[in-house]
Amino acid sequence: MKKIVILTGAGISAESGIKTFRDGDGLWETHRVEDVATPQAWVKDAELVLDFYNARRKQLFEVAPNSAHLALKKLEDKFDVQIITQNVDNLHERAGSSNVLHLHGLLTQARSTFDPSLIYDIGDKALKIGDKCERGSQLRPHIVWFGEAVPNIEPAAKIVSKANILMIIGTSLLVYPAAGLMYYAPVHSQKFYIDPSATDIPDVKNLTIVKEKAGTGVPRVVEQLLKGENGK
Ligand code: OAD
Repeated sequence: MKKIVILTGAGISAESGIKTFRDGDGLWETHRVEDVATPQAWVKDAELVLDFYNARRKQLFEVAPNSAHLALKKLEDKFDVQIITQNVDNLHERAGSSNVLHLHGLLTQARSTFDPSLIYDIGDKALKIGDKCERGSQLRPHIVWFGEAVPNIEPAAKIVSKANILMIIGTSLLVYPAAGLMYYAPVHSQKFYIDPSATDIPDVKNLTIVKEKAGTGVPRVVEQLLKGENGK
């Protein structure tokens, strides 16, 4: 079975109603990223950070996977599929995808501020000051903030290095280390970049640019891959 590795970013969830990070005003849901998504923000105003992520988590349960998430699930009929996502939503899982690796964490989980290996499923629950882990320290969102290490980057690079086909969907490719993952793909693997703002990526061979929204571009490429065509 051929292996398809799929790197997704905020753009795949845009048509579900979740805002991307870098459209327009430079703000993320009216906040500056430094005020809500950094370790410094947590030290300065943990309540604001919790409220911000509580709102993102609440919104997640008001939206649904779109045709792009659903199409990726269909690929599992014929391919060994691994999704690597920068998104903190759970829309790939809710579309039924079996193998999803989150690079930047997950809104539906919390973790201990004392021991990062203590991670808890919280579903749609709001986190508050005073919510503690079993060791008695405050819980924080299980999110990789700016300036923090990305623990899943090494497993992700290994997965990408085994790809026969690589799809990159809905990401500006501006945030590292995630944006460097495609360079681990085998030179001769077939690659697609599906994003309305997609441009050619220097030094990436066998790349087909699909300058289209995920909601239409992804199902089309998926159908062609399932039919055994070259997906162009
Ligand atoms: P960005 O907001 O940087 O980029 C979103 C991409 O989605 C852009 O390239 C848009 O052209 C594209 N896009 C918009 N609408 C689309 C649609 N309907 N279909 C397909 N593509 C569409 O988001 P990311 O690249 O995901 O990190 O950002 C990467 C990381 O930066 C995020 O994971 C987050 C952020 O700050 C953390 O929170 C750590």
